[in-house]
Amino acid sequence: MIFHQSRSLKGEITVPGDKSISHRAVMFASLAEGISEVTNFLQGADCLSTIRCFRQLGITIDNDTTSNSVTIHGKGLFGLKEANERLDVGNSGTTMRLISGILSGQNFPVTITGDESIQRRPMGRIMTPLRMMGANITSLNDNDCAPLLINHNSNKPSNHLIGIHYKSPVASAQIKSCVLLAGLYANGETSVTEPSLSRDHTERMLREFGATVTSNGNTATILPRPSLTGGKIHVPGDISSAAYFIAAGLIVPNSEIVIKNVGINPTRDGILHVCRQMGGKIRLENVQDKGGEPTADIIVKHSELNGIEIGGSIIPTLIDEIPVIAVLACFAKGKTVIRDAAELKVKESNRIDVMVENLAKMGADITATEDGMIIHGGKSLHGASIQSKFDHRIAMSFAVASLMAEGETIIHDAECVDISYPNFYSDLNKLSDL
Ligand code: S3P
Repeated sequence: MIFHQSRSLKGEITVPGDKSISHRAVMFASLAEGISEVTNFLQGADCLSTIRCFRQLGITIDNDTTSNSVTIHGKGLFGLKEANERLDVGNSGTTMRLISGILSGQNFPVTITGDESIQRRPMGRIMTPLRMMGANITSLNDNDCAPLLINHNSNKPSNHLIGIHYKSPVASAQIKSCVLLAGLYANGETSVTEPSLSRDHTERMLREFGATVTSNGNTATILPRPSLTGGKIHVPGDISSAAYFIAAGLIVPNSEIVIKNVGINPTRDGILHVCRQMGGKIRLENVQDKGGEPTADIIVKHSELNGIEIGGSIIPTLIDEIPVIAVLACFAKGKTVIRDAAELKVKESNRIDVMVENLAKMGADITATEDGMIIHGGKSLHGASIQSKFDHRIAMSFAVASLMAEGETIIHDAECVDISYPNFYSDLNKLSDL
C-alpha cells in the first residue's frame, strides 16, 4: 500500500473498541451464568479468534457485525465442553495465554495453536506457573511455544488446580491474567506479583462479574470458584489505536484532532504522559467512568516536541505504543532513549529490530539497544519500502511516519492492521487534507 505526506490532519474520530477488553468480555461472559451483551466490541481478527475458540468450546455467541454488539450465552464456570478440533488462536497472544489459564482448570484435554508468529512466541512464561498449579501442559514441539497440549489429569476432579502465590519475572498482563483465570479453578487463593503493574482489565472486569479480586500494589489476588453473573459491558475505544492519531496530530503541522470515547485506564495511559512530557498539547474532555473503566475524549494539536528518556514502571503502561513513540521521537528535538523494553522483542514481531531497520531506511538516526532504542530526532524522513512483518502496530506506525516523509512510502502487507483496526487507513484518510 502506498502512502504520501499530509499537510494537516483535522476532524473528529472514534476509534474501535479496546482489544484487551473485547477479548476479556467474551471470555468472562462465557464463564458467567446468563446472557451478556457486549457493545462497541472490536471486530478485529484477534478478537474474532477468541469468539471462534469459545464457540468451539460450546458457547453460543451471536456477533452483530453491523452494530458491533456481541451476545454471549454464558454457561457458568464449569459449562465449557470439549472441542472437536484443536483451538486456533490465529495471531492472538492474548487469546493463547488467557485461554490456557481457563482450560487448565477443565476436565477435558485440548490442543491450542495459532499462526506462524504465535508459534514463535514464548509460552514457557505461562507453562511454568500453570505447572506449579498442577496443570498438565506441554509444548508439542518441545520448544516452549505453541502448539500447547493441556491434558486432563484423569485421576483428579475438574477443579484440580492448586492456588499459588506467583512472583512473575515479567510485568505482563497476559501472564497475570492466565494465572488469575486458572485461579478460578484452584483450591485456594491465587495471587500474582509483578515487577511493575501491567494493565488491570482482568481484575476490573472479573470484579464486575462478581469475582473476589483484590489489588494491592503490584499484587492481584483472586478467590476460587465464584459464581460469575453475566450483564452488559460497554467496551471503551482502544487507547492503543488512538495512539496513532495522537502521534499523527502532534507531528503534522496545523493539525487538530478530537478522538472520542477512549479508554484512559491508568495502567494504559503511559502514551499520554510521554507525549505531554515531550511537549505535546493534549487535553482530555468528558472524563467518565463506564462499567469500571475510565474514558475521555482526547484533543490533540500539532506541537513542538523534545526528546525524553522513557523507562522503568511506565513501560508496561505503553508497551504497545512504543513503535509509534519511536516515530514521534524522530520529530522531536534532541535525544530520546527508550529502555527496559526488551519485551518488544517477543511481540507479534521483534519490534525493536523492525522499527530500527525501517526507520533507518527512511533516514532516521536510530540505534537498537539490548532493551530499547536511542533516537536522535530532527532529521527529515523520506519515503521508503517498509516491511511490516505482518505486525499491525508496525504497519500503523509507518503509516503515521509516512505523513511527514518526503516522497512515497510503501508499506508491505499493510492489511495486517485487520488484527486490531480493520478501518485504520480509511479513518486516517478522513482526517487528511491532501
Ligand atoms: C495484552 C497485554 C500485553 C499487550 C498485548 C495485550 C493483554 O502483552 O502487549 O497487546 O490484553 O493482556 P503482555 O502481557 O505480554 O505484555
